Amino acid sequence: MKRLAVIRHLVVAALALCPVAVAQAAGDAVTPASENPLAGNAEAIAAGGELFGKMNCAGCHGYDLTGGMGPDLTDPVWTYGGKPGDIYLTIAKGTPSGMPRWDDKLKPNEIWQIVSYIQSKAVH
Ligand code: HEC
Repeated sequence: MKRLAVIRHLVVAALALCPVAVAQAAGDAVTPASENPLAGNAEAIAAGGELFGKMNCAGCHGYDLTGGMGPDLTDPVWTYGGKPGDIYLTIAKGTPSGMPRWDDKLKPNEIWQIVSYIQSKAVH
């Protein structure tokens, strides 16, 4: 029994030392019904806006998000769903028609920051 407890401690310690693994696990748990933990957070919106330029989302969706080669992200029309969990999953996994996947380049926290930014630009 004591040995099991030691192993459990080691696993917990290893996870604590590996924030990427924890973040990845958190990202895997996202479903279409997930709420954005960073919705409306001003710092997250600013960080998401920076990533939107840095990762070149803007190159396909426009710096004002109203679209270009990729669709408008400010209007209420969504192909893959406009709820926060839907938007997260589209960004993470990509689509078969030209939207790249980003879960190999962005951490779940960063994807939620971008979702916050997109949510902040919604025209209703
Ligand atoms: C190479 C061009 C390109 C880049 C770069 C790109 N996208 Fe897209 N994106 C697209 C295209 C094209 C679609 C439409 C895909 C489809 O209909 O299957 C799309 C779709 C989407 C959708 C779904 C829209 C809907 O109506 O459901 C979201 C959200 C989105 N992109 C966000 C992003 C974000 C955030 C980034 C940066 C991390 C990004 N995109 C980078 C081309 C791009």
